[in-house]
Amino acid sequence: MSNAARIELDGKSYEFPVVEGTEHEKAIDISKLRAQTGHITLDDGYGNTGSCASSITYIDGDAGILRYRGIPIEDLAGKCSFVEVAWLIIFGRLPTLADRDRFTDLLTESSRLDENMKKHFDGFPTYAPPMAILSAMINTLSAHNEEVWEAHDDKSIEIAAAVLMSKVRTIAAAAYKSSIGEPLVYPRYDLKYVENFLHMMFSVPYRNYEPSETVTKALNLFFLLHADHEQNCSTSTVRMVASSKANMFASCSAGVCALWGPLHGGANVAVIDMLQEIQESGISVKEYVRKVKDKEDGVKLMGFGHRVYRNFDPRSKILKQAAEELLTEMNISDPMLDLSQELADAALNDDYFIERKLYPNVDYYSGVILRAIGIPLNMFTVMFAIGRMPGWIANWKEIHDDPQGRIYRPRQVYTGPVNQTWVPKEERTYPPLY
Ligand code: CMC
Repeated sequence: MSNAARIELDGKSYEFPVVEGTEHEKAIDISKLRAQTGHITLDDGYGNTGSCASSITYIDGDAGILRYRGIPIEDLAGKCSFVEVAWLIIFGRLPTLADRDRFTDLLTESSRLDENMKKHFDGFPTYAPPMAILSAMINTLSAHNEEVWEAHDDKSIEIAAAVLMSKVRTIAAAAYKSSIGEPLVYPRYDLKYVENFLHMMFSVPYRNYEPSETVTKALNLFFLLHADHEQNCSTSTVRMVASSKANMFASCSAGVCALWGPLHGGANVAVIDMLQEIQESGISVKEYVRKVKDKEDGVKLMGFGHRVYRNFDPRSKILKQAAEELLTEMNISDPMLDLSQELADAALNDDYFIERKLYPNVDYYSGVILRAIGIPLNMFTVMFAIGRMPGWIANWKEIHDDPQGRIYRPRQVYTGPVNQTWVPKEERTYPPLY
């Protein structure tokens, strides 16, 4: 084997092929490791594990590069709508005019929810987190759209993708409306993707919400920059579920659950909570940074750090500029943006963050944009989920289209008790659990 990795184990030598991606990323193919050596690899948190080969998104974390299907996000951000980028991510090339028009029509036609689905919203308490409603309702969608169980070729997958992307937006707006006790607003067939979402969020029966071009542009950009991010926690979850041959909607609803956590999509809420806490407590930025560095009460600088980026997250650069432009154009002065900048400057000049290569990530500035648009805090992670839908669908499709695909089934190194026996109830004298 010319390009191979060698492992010495128990006096024996084994060779494993080195594979190379199109961007020259190298990986040791250990798929025969256990069969040949009886050993497995251990990589807690998967920081060194390539769980798949994928042609959707490329990230160079050291250089701060992110490309969808080979195209830099900086290029797409200035030229494309979210819907075009979604199609690119799902089908692998930029849509032609015919592709774009067909997909747009499918999205428009799919925007209304089945009337029976509306009853489900009544079952949730008003304080229900919208992420709980979103994941439950996406699963419910698969019950109402049986065609998704049969999605097998590009045509039926395109229809299923449009149904999911379109209705997820309707569900998100409906979850918000039920949480504030307002009637659900029907989608309009004359509005584009982002405008239609804003209409369903903010119109009321007696007053139509008319979004400005600035707001629409900012939200389009927000969705576009969240559209995919290779094998993060939620996307890996979607692939895991998809590998069992679960349908697209079931797989993506699992992705919503994974995204909910504060270390993942929930970080955009955590950033605003953190900024609010600093403002309200009157604590100085310097003191807050000290608490973070001393790991006091487990405090982290939310919106900073990334498993893959050891440099500026390219999305945060674009969002920072977009946030500044949006506030200027809307004539809003948000002290939170000033505070976020002061905090970022303090961190970026501090050895703790420099040594660990911790930079602002996508969630650091996105909250400022969402606040300016009027999106309530409890909807922030839902907004991330709407944006991430194309990436999840594309990853589901990649698994679906792979004829060699096997169910995902990692192994483990067992560290529990050995050779235990059953003990009768009256002899169980363990100390209390808590
Ligand atoms: N604030 C303070 N210290 C940090 C932070 C932070 N935000 N992030 C990492 N560190 C420290 C960490 O404590 C560790 O320090 P030490 O070497 O002393 O033990 C070191 O940096 C390495 O961190 P890590 O825990 O190995 O990093 P990770 O790759 O496991 O975690 C992360 C990545 C994103 C979960 C983490 O940086 C974090 O919790 N950030 C804050 C939450 C956040 O903003 N999440 C959004 C991520 S981007 C959007 C998304 O993908 O969902």
